[in-house]
Amino acid sequence: MSSTVGTGRLAGRVALVTGASRGIGAAISRAYAKEGADLVLVSRTTGGLEELDDEIRGLTGKSSLLVPLDLKDFDAIDRLGAALYERYGRLDVLVGNAGILGTLSPLGHIAPKEFQEVIDLNLTANWRLLRVMDPLLRQSEAGRAIFVTSGAAKGPRAYWGTYAISKAALEMMVGIYAQEIQQTKVRANLIDPGRTRTRMRAKAYPGEDPMSLKTPDEIVEPFVTLASAAFTGNGERVKAQ
Ligand SMILES: NC(=O)c1ccc[n+]([C@@H]2O[C@H](COP(=O)([O-])OP(=O)(O)OC[C@H]3O[C@@H](n4cnc5c(N)ncnc54)[C@H](OP(=O)(O)O)[C@@H]3O)[C@@H](O)[C@H]2O)c1
Repeated sequence: MSSTVGTGRLAGRVALVTGASRGIGAAISRAYAKEGADLVLVSRTTGGLEELDDEIRGLTGKSSLLVPLDLKDFDAIDRLGAALYERYGRLDVLVGNAGILGTLSPLGHIAPKEFQEVIDLNLTANWRLLRVMDPLLRQSEAGRAIFVTSGAAKGPRAYWGTYAISKAALEMMVGIYAQEIQQTKVRANLIDPGRTRTRMRAKAYPGEDPMSLKTPDEIVEPFVTLASAAFTGNGERVKAQ
C-alpha cells in the first residue's frame, strides 16, 4: 500500500464510490480518504464495507457512510440520491466502479438472465446513478463523475460478449453526458484500470500468475487526479497503467 497520508487534494469533498468492498473500489476509497475526502461506500457485502471503514478510520480518524445495497435495485439508487441530498446537499465526486464479468462464452450460449444482470449492473445502474446524482454534482463547486471502463470496450473480442457490450455502451453514455455538462462546473471522464490483481481479473484469467499484476493500490493515482477540482478535462478516457 502507498503512503498513509496524502496532501489534502480532496479535502472536504464528498465522494461516493461503488464496488467499494474490495478490489479497485476499495483502493480508490483508501486513496480518497488519505486525500481528505468524506466517503460514501456502496456495495452488497456489509462485512467488506465495515472492514474498509475500520481501515480508513485507522488511517484518517474519520468514519465513512456505509451503504450496503445491490445496485441492480434501481429504486434503492433513487433513495440513495435523496438521502445524500438531505445529508450533504451536494456530491463532489461520483465513482461508478462496481462491475461484474459474467461468463466468458459465445454470444449464443449466454443465459438471458446473466446477460441482463451484467447489463443491469455495468450499464443501467451507472445510468441510474448518473441520473439521480447529476443534480447533486451540479450543486458542487467542482462535481466530478468518473466511470470505470475496460480495454474490452475498445473492439470486438470473441467470448467477451456481455461484458464488452456493457462497457462499450458505458463509454458512449459517459461521452454523451460529458457533452451535455460541458457548460457546467461538472466534469465526467472514464478510467481504464488495465490488468489489475483482483477477484474479477482472476476469474477472467484463471491461469495467470496474480503476482505478475499490479495491485489496486498501485494503480489508483489517476482516480485521485480526476476527482480533484484542479482537473478540468471532460469526456476523456484515461488509462491507469
Ligand atoms: N481488475 C481488472 O483487471 C480490471 C480491468 C479493467 C476494468 N476493470 C473494472 O474495474 C471495476 C472494478 O473491478 P475489480 O477488478 O475491482 O472487481 P472485483 O474485485 O470483483 O470488485 C467488484 C466490486 O463490485 C461490487 N459489486 C458487484 N456486484 C454488485 C452489485 N450488484 N451491487 C453493488 N456492488 C456490486 C463488489 O462488491 P460486492 O460483491 O460486495 O457487492 C466489489 O466491490 C469493474 O468495473 C471492472 O469492470 C477491472
